[in-house]
Amino acid sequence: MTPADLPLLSARALTKHYGPRLGCADVTFDLYEGEVLAVVGESGSGKSTLLSLLATELDPTAGSVGYRMRDGVTRNLFTLSEAERRFLLRTDWGFVRQDARDGLRMGVSAGGNVGERLMAVGARHYGKIRDTASDWLGRVEIDPSRIDDMPKSFSGGMRQRLQIARNLVTHPRLVFMDEPTSGLDVSVQARLLDLIRGLVSELGLAVIIVTHDLAVARLLSHRIMVMRQGRVIETGLTDQVLDDPREAYTQLLVSSVLAA
Ligand SMILES: Nc1ncnc2c1ncn2[C@@H]1O[C@H](COP(=O)(O)OP(=O)(O)O)[C@@H](O)[C@H]1O
Ligand SMILES: [Mg+2]
Repeated sequence: MTPADLPLLSARALTKHYGPRLGCADVTFDLYEGEVLAVVGESGSGKSTLLSLLATELDPTAGSVGYRMRDGVTRNLFTLSEAERRFLLRTDWGFVRQDARDGLRMGVSAGGNVGERLMAVGARHYGKIRDTASDWLGRVEIDPSRIDDMPKSFSGGMRQRLQIARNLVTHPRLVFMDEPTSGLDVSVQARLLDLIRGLVSELGLAVIIVTHDLAVARLLSHRIMVMRQGRVIETGLTDQVLDDPREAYTQLLVSSVLAA
């Protein structure tokens, strides 16, 4: 087996309790390079908990996550040192937050938000950093003449596109996204989804995207995991799950009987 045949990430029996309350339980799956996995389910089903565990922002109550590092060695994320985790977050991973204010540095210019990530992976040449930042603003449809403007002066859609540029500029191997389009107007959402879809396929990114919106899952993902009350109740290829759901609960989700 070549390394690329091995999963990039493997979650095994991942479980999180918040005191007596269940966050998620017994979540097991593999994610391969270049694969987009959507985690869907109604509010409170454990989607964000799962994503925070995978990104090592939360410690699990039980279970493990294997991650194939750049040197080809698979490590359990929960045994990494704090420095190793921070290194992964800076270099190998991106995390696109629902609220761009949580994923951007609001007191830093647009160009600074993108350039900072480049500097974190070792870029030092100011002119090159600025050129790359400017190029990425263009790629996310922000006029590069806004490079010195603060994100405060941007619309919600622009901020979200800036957050995407900040996360993708370093060519991460894995990107976590938590409801990246749900805070935006419907018309803005459609364009942003198109943009995300183009960049993900162009860069061959592995993505784990959490969404309550099945249209988002349909457009972006290869595979879907349906969560309910903290557990995975159905999983499969996106078209299969959405066109021919096996579980009664998924059928309800698909027929949008359930409120998000
Ligand atoms: N910090 C927390 N403390 C206590 N309970 C939490 C916390 N975060 C989430 N929960 C609970 O865990 C469950 C799953 O929540 P969450 O992962 O946020 O779901 P989703 O993202 O699907 O809406 C819910 O019952 C929620 O109330
Ligand atoms: Mg959530």
